[in-house]
Amino acid sequence: MPASPNPHQGALEQYRRRAPVYNVELALFEPIRRAAVARLGLRPGDTVIDAGCGTGLSLPLLREAVGPRGHIIGIEQCPEMLAQAHECVRQHRWHNVTLIEAPVEDARITSTTHHRADAALFHFTHDILRAPAAISNVMRALRPGASVVACGLKWSTPWAWPVNLFVFGAALHSVSSLDGLAQPWSLLAAQLDEFEVDSALAGGVFIAHGRRR
Ligand SMILES: C[S@@+](CC[C@H](N)C(=O)[O-])C[C@H]1O[C@@H](n2cnc3c(N)ncnc32)[C@H](O)[C@@H]1O
Repeated sequence: MPASPNPHQGALEQYRRRAPVYNVELALFEPIRRAAVARLGLRPGDTVIDAGCGTGLSLPLLREAVGPRGHIIGIEQCPEMLAQAHECVRQHRWHNVTLIEAPVEDARITSTTHHRADAALFHFTHDILRAPAAISNVMRALRPGASVVACGLKWSTPWAWPVNLFVFGAALHSVSSLDGLAQPWSLLAAQLDEFEVDSALAGGVFIAHGRRR
């Protein structure tokens, strides 16, 4: 029997190639990252999951919000991306950041406090948002009422074609499939209460927030 194809292979290859230049490419989206982390409403001592944490660009903001008593759990399947997150943790000498190298679908997510997490961030993680098993795995690790923020690319209105051209170009080298770009949050929304979606960058980016049921 032929070996079953690895469903993560496409995304893995994509980010293996991008890892050396990723932090420079993402500089444009820094204000979105700040808005997304602020929207989580983290408090000192909280545990937060960074699903698809990449090179760890959100870690400094998350660490600032949860403080030394909090806990951050980053999950990332691409070793070349995660190596940079490890380096960030090492340089800052943070002892409360756990980095898990695995697809979010398969990660064993456990907090050092043995309580379920207070929040989860999905920052520019389209492939993860479109994977029902990944969403379920993160939801299981969250307490009821936990704050969830997702943000990333989305199609703008059809007449905003220059924006959609930008979204198309950016998506081509950052997602495995363009499917779901009209409403990337749809699987997540089905799991959350108080769900809201805002637009940024002329409708080419969304920031969604809700609370785990
Ligand atoms: C655009 S990057 C975003 C990285 C980070 N969240 C940020 O804001 O800079 C998307 C990341 O998701 C990771 N990824 C994609 N599918 C994944 C999966 N199923 N499980 C874990 N990581 C995944 C990629 O390897 C990549 O590092």
